[in-house]
Amino acid sequence: MRLDKYISESTPYSRKDIKRLVKYGYVEVNGILAERPETQVTENDTVRIDGEEINYVKYVYLVLNKPAGYVSATEDKRYPVVTELAPERYSHYNLFPVGRLDVDTEGLLILTNDGAFDHMVTSPKKNVYKRYFARLDRPAEPEDARAFEAGMVFKEFTAKPARLEICENPCEAYVEIAEGKYHQVKRMFERVGKTVVFLRRVAIGGLTLPEGLEVGKTAEFSENDLKMLIFSNRY
Ligand code: URA
Repeated sequence: MRLDKYISESTPYSRKDIKRLVKYGYVEVNGILAERPETQVTENDTVRIDGEEINYVKYVYLVLNKPAGYVSATEDKRYPVVTELAPERYSHYNLFPVGRLDVDTEGLLILTNDGAFDHMVTSPKKNVYKRYFARLDRPAEPEDARAFEAGMVFKEFTAKPARLEICENPCEAYVEIAEGKYHQVKRMFERVGKTVVFLRRVAIGGLTLPEGLEVGKTAEFSENDLKMLIFSNRY
């Protein structure tokens, strides 16, 4: 790939900045001064800017503990967006959320710039179950669990069998769904006559929120670690 692409994908420098850095002799490839931004490099080359080595990182994967009040989008007119919660050093990665949580839903959300990864986790065909903790306006009942298990039919889709575990306090429950359709958990509870008053996603497949990750904070993972956790289906 071109040297300017390598640098712009790994640092906040723009192509214009890089052109200048090269022109004024700040950029070295394998210890030799780079002469042109178009120079071809590979991931195995060592690139230094003003003596500092940069690591080539194309894709990043952040686990966010989403607070209520943020929209799962990259821009919005009314609310702050979840990508604003990524630390500044990721600002050049064009991160987006993997799937969506409602503005009032909290919990586990992945931010990445890897479209293939997004598809792998969100496609219902991949059968990655998402687990939620829900607080309800009235007690859940055993027949609700049977209704969830039967697979509910909605206008635009039929939900795959969902698992409902009622807690000791029956106004609280865990639910696991295979899809992530708009308001899905809330709509499923509405179908059995309950209103969700609080919702938090606690797991995606076998991935849970890292212990101690405060609300509004992110933790970076490698692609492999994240895939291993998600597809291990254990928590
Ligand atoms: N289901 C919902 O109703 N809301 C969410 O945010 C996620 C799943």
